Amino acid sequence: MELKRAGQPVGGKGLILVTGGTGTLGRLVVPRLRDAGCNVRVLSRRSAETRDGIEFVPGDLTTGDGIEAAVEGAEIIVHCAGSNKGDEDKALNLVRAASLVGAPHVVYISVVGADRVPVVSGVDHAMFGYFASKLAAERVVADSGLPWTTLRAAQFHDLILMVARQMARLPVIPLPAGFRFQPVDAGEVAARLAELALATPAGLVPDMAGPRVYSAAELLRGYLRATHRRRPIIPVWLPGKAARAVRAGANLAPGRAVGQRTWEEFLTERLKP
Ligand SMILES: NC(=O)c1ccc[n+]([C@@H]2O[C@H](COP(=O)([O-])OP(=O)(O)OC[C@H]3O[C@@H](n4cnc5c(N)ncnc54)[C@H](OP(=O)(O)O)[C@@H]3O)[C@@H](O)[C@H]2O)c1
Repeated sequence: MELKRAGQPVGGKGLILVTGGTGTLGRLVVPRLRDAGCNVRVLSRRSAETRDGIEFVPGDLTTGDGIEAAVEGAEIIVHCAGSNKGDEDKALNLVRAASLVGAPHVVYISVVGADRVPVVSGVDHAMFGYFASKLAAERVVADSGLPWTTLRAAQFHDLILMVARQMARLPVIPLPAGFRFQPVDAGEVAARLAELALATPAGLVPDMAGPRVYSAAELLRGYLRATHRRRPIIPVWLPGKAARAVRAGANLAPGRAVGQRTWEEFLTERLKP
């Protein structure tokens, strides 16, 4: 596919590639960068067209297909693509391709607790392999030889809402005992990522978490209340070292409660009729 405007600065700023620019976070990052005068390209497995001044290029970070064309000319790469597993391989394919064509600033989004949730046993891997894969991807970025910035964010409200919706289908809801979360607004994380992308590479920056810590049951009850439902909740004790670390708060960043929007505010807005 022929790349349009590859590497050409627009409005004084160079080309920025956003991987995962179609996802919950990435699609909030893209307009912020465009509105800052950047020339933005999005890598996606799905469509390949230009919309609202954003160039979409097809590519798959797992297979490596299309990645070389996507990174061509990028001065900054905001790496938001991710899934439940395999983020280490995605990061590796991305930084390898990027290193072949230049030395872009790679801005990576990881998760609070990536370095504090030990994923050791099979049980840990089955339930918390995501944390290990985020930590491994962080290391790939840090060891890439490219300039880099990594931000660890807490769980987004959107993720908690998705889980709450699934759980609410059950007549009786099992929840992991002792688990707490500090959900953060994806829009606020997107604003921070855009700010980091346009600044000089900063390595691992301070975590970003929401304004309050909630128990899993509080979060679910908030959703049930907002949707006028009632369900019994049963606490379930999860085995393993990773679950123990989460019960001890490894996924929280109370000293970095910098997000403003609360879970309740998010629910009111999102569930508006
Ligand atoms: N959700 C949270 O609570 C949370 C908290 C902290 C950190 N994070 C991190 O933030 C990032 C974004 O999360 P999100 O919630 O926005 O995810 P999401 O809504 O599930 O979106 C995932 C994005 O990744 C892209 N993607 C997935 N696999 C890909 C592949 N093989 N090749 C190319 N693109 C691929 C998808 O693009 P296409 O489908 O268009 O190809 C999509 O744009 C992830 O790295 C995640 O680990 C998330």
